[in-house]
Amino acid sequence: MEKRSIAWWKRASVYQIYPLSFQDSNGDGIGDIPGILSRLDHLQTLGIDVIWLSPVFTSPMKDNGYDISDYSSIHPWFGTKEDLKKLVDAVHARGMKIISDIVLNHTSDQHPWFIDAINNPKSPYRDYYIFRKQPNDIQSVFSGPAWSKVPNRDEYYFHFFAKEQPDLNWQNPQLRQTLYRLLKDWLAFGFDGFRLDVIDLIGKDIDAKRIGCGPHYQTHLEELKTWVFHDDNLFTVGELSGSTPSQASLVTGGPPEGVFSMAFQFSHLALDEQPQLGKWALRPLQLKEMQATFQALDDVFSQRGWNALFMGNHDQPRSLSRYGSPQYHYQSQTMLFLAFFGQRGTPFIYQGEEIGMMNYPFTSLHEFRDIESIQYYQHTIGQQSHEQIMQSLKAKSRDNARTPMQWNDQPFAGFSSHSPWLPVHPLFREYNVEKDRHASYSIQHFLSAFLMFRKHQDVFIDGTLHYRTFHEKIYAYERRNHKTSILILTSFSEQPITLHFPDAEDWTPILTNDNHVKLTKEMELPPFFGGMYQRK
Ligand code: GLC
Ligand code: CA
Repeated sequence: MEKRSIAWWKRASVYQIYPLSFQDSNGDGIGDIPGILSRLDHLQTLGIDVIWLSPVFTSPMKDNGYDISDYSSIHPWFGTKEDLKKLVDAVHARGMKIISDIVLNHTSDQHPWFIDAINNPKSPYRDYYIFRKQPNDIQSVFSGPAWSKVPNRDEYYFHFFAKEQPDLNWQNPQLRQTLYRLLKDWLAFGFDGFRLDVIDLIGKDIDAKRIGCGPHYQTHLEELKTWVFHDDNLFTVGELSGSTPSQASLVTGGPPEGVFSMAFQFSHLALDEQPQLGKWALRPLQLKEMQATFQALDDVFSQRGWNALFMGNHDQPRSLSRYGSPQYHYQSQTMLFLAFFGQRGTPFIYQGEEIGMMNYPFTSLHEFRDIESIQYYQHTIGQQSHEQIMQSLKAKSRDNARTPMQWNDQPFAGFSSHSPWLPVHPLFREYNVEKDRHASYSIQHFLSAFLMFRKHQDVFIDGTLHYRTFHEKIYAYERRNHKTSILILTSFSEQPITLHFPDAEDWTPILTNDNHVKLTKEMELPPFFGGMYQRK
């Protein structure tokens, strides 16, 4: 029987680096590229195949690099293009790959195109952006109207994010060719692919108020594939924040059928939000709904396309704080790896997850740097109390994920010799890479053991999904193919749970976060237990 070989990126393990907060090398309190270079051993030991670098391009840093003012140069905080080349070469020399974040939906308002567009009425770049005499009522993701007035002119420009991030007009063919050219240039430079920021917004029709997966989306993607993404060896992951799972599955799986290798889709991120009220309206997670969500994802991705599995990134709170408990630090984080990453998709680890980094204990508004958090406060105070807003910010602010990486118990956690741009988490002496590496219960060792096992078992790629129902606080599923079955058994409970497990004797343990737990017909699972088993 002919069997199509499995694309390499389905087996890969990806690690996201947020350069501002990974490692500082020159003592200015800001992470940089030489810093990353000095930490490649750590990533290799973890078993990482692909590094995703959040943007390092020149930027006024209103949105920490997601507001690019020059797509071809490196922001001096991070180093030089030569530093970047060294990093890319060093990553390749270790047999790993590296992809760059790229923001094609908007630029910075300091990009020369935009500056010319608003200052020069005859500018060829005017049509690179979206201007209207009359704004409509579309709201920005970062609170407030998505339109701002052009200074000294009777017109408005569109920005779906901050006013310093004007949206590009993808209807302009010359703009599109310019963007394809720059993608090709970066591939020629040595990147192995891209993470495409909010790419499902490029087909928008502002006047029809259709933003995500808009009417021009498919045509633009087809063109993008023809010009740049025709090689299925590239690693591309589209951030599809406004797509349904089936829309995401249609454009993934790599060329020729898909465009991107895989997609970040957002359905599971809404599970702890109040329906329709957005990210700041908090609600406890129900595992039943999580099951329904991942079942729906598996239904579509088992037919077509490929998913990217993630529980955290630079836009989300820390996964341990969100779904686990600091009292069960090791257990919660390791359990979460099994719960999320045993599913169908490529696992993305966000920096710090491998040591269970946690949300920062913010106490005052002045501690936040993130533009989304600050603007949310400014637009909401008056409608909600200070205390209410702070509660949402503490739980959900993106700054939770952006505090410096905790490497060791030295001052500033070994991140820098200087007070960093965002404070180090106060518990860094307890939780850091060096300490975890030598601990008898090491999160990073657990993670690398899992990633290694996953890589060599096709069942994680092609296995069907079967949920098991034990208890409302237990998330358990099997993956089955013609060769084997894997069982993932995880508890999201702070209390022990008694379990009736009729087929307990059919399973051999592969990896668990508590070796005292033996599967038996009647058994008790300790808080935040996580175990992976294989059918005998
Ligand atoms: C994406 C990025 C986020 C950024 C936004 C606007 O969602 O991940 O950090 O603020 O796009 O570029
Ligand atoms: Ca630095």
